Amino acid sequence: MLKVSDLAKSFAGVKAVAGVSFEIAKGEILSMIGPNGAGKTSAFNMITGFYAPDAGSIVFEGRELNGLPPHAIAKAGIGRTFQNIELFHDLTVRENMRVALQCNSPVTTIGAILRMPSTVRREIEENRRTDELLKMMGLADKADYQSSALSYGEQRRLEMARALATDATLLLLDEPTAGMTPAEVGIMMDTIRKVRDTGITVFLIEHNMKLVMSISDRIVVMDHGVKIAEDVPSEIRKHPAVLRAYLGEEEVA
Ligand SMILES: Nc1ncnc2c1ncn2[C@@H]1O[C@H](COP(=O)(O)OP(=O)(O)OP(=O)(O)O)[C@@H](O)[C@H]1O
Ligand SMILES: [Mg+2]
Repeated sequence: MLKVSDLAKSFAGVKAVAGVSFEIAKGEILSMIGPNGAGKTSAFNMITGFYAPDAGSIVFEGRELNGLPPHAIAKAGIGRTFQNIELFHDLTVRENMRVALQCNSPVTTIGAILRMPSTVRREIEENRRTDELLKMMGLADKADYQSSALSYGEQRRLEMARALATDATLLLLDEPTAGMTPAEVGIMMDTIRKVRDTGITVFLIEHNMKLVMSISDRIVVMDHGVKIAEDVPSEIRKHPAVLRAYLGEEEVA
């Protein structure tokens, strides 16, 4: 589904990503782990068009993405969340969803004022899609809450719902459980599985080893901008280079 080849990006001489290649197969959960500063978010930012790669190619369902802006990549079917939650906190949950749903094809003001049939149909369809996604995320009864009134775990799940609003077939999650309580992590794990079970492919950056080891089909390990390992969880757990990279940082569960 996604083929990343020789991807590279430097910042002021620091090689954030130094020639990384990997593939994601349709329907799998692929996780990317690695110590702080390993280049994980930079890789995400290149795949989603937020950073222009210095070199390399990113082919999604046969189409080269390198050089496309973020909105074109979102439209191609890649949704993402951010390491730090990015929501419109003054808007309600449903309004946050509407912003995402309309970013590809805005409703015209005149259409909205005149209540034109096409605009009304659009609104009905948007509300249907919103309700469907909020239900998947366990937020069905929170549609009219102001986003800032949601718990931290709920805000994370709203971000996921929003990332899926434009019919993403590949979902990139950057540390979705960062700062969560164990109970919230459990809900997030179930939610990621639920997303995958609907046929959406998941690419996950995560530091929570328990979650990574239990949820991933395969794991890519990054360190200092390079891929040091790629395998199934049971192999990654005992991989010498991985254990070395994590030495003194945290245990690989
Ligand atoms: N916009 C930027 N400008 C300058 N340097 C950057 C930028 N983005 C990333 N870097 C640098 O690139 C390197 C990799 O950072 P990146 O955020 O990709 O790591 P990460 O693996 O996501 O780390 P973490 O687990 O802490 O989130 C770091 O040295 C970082 O300081
Ligand atoms: Mg990061």
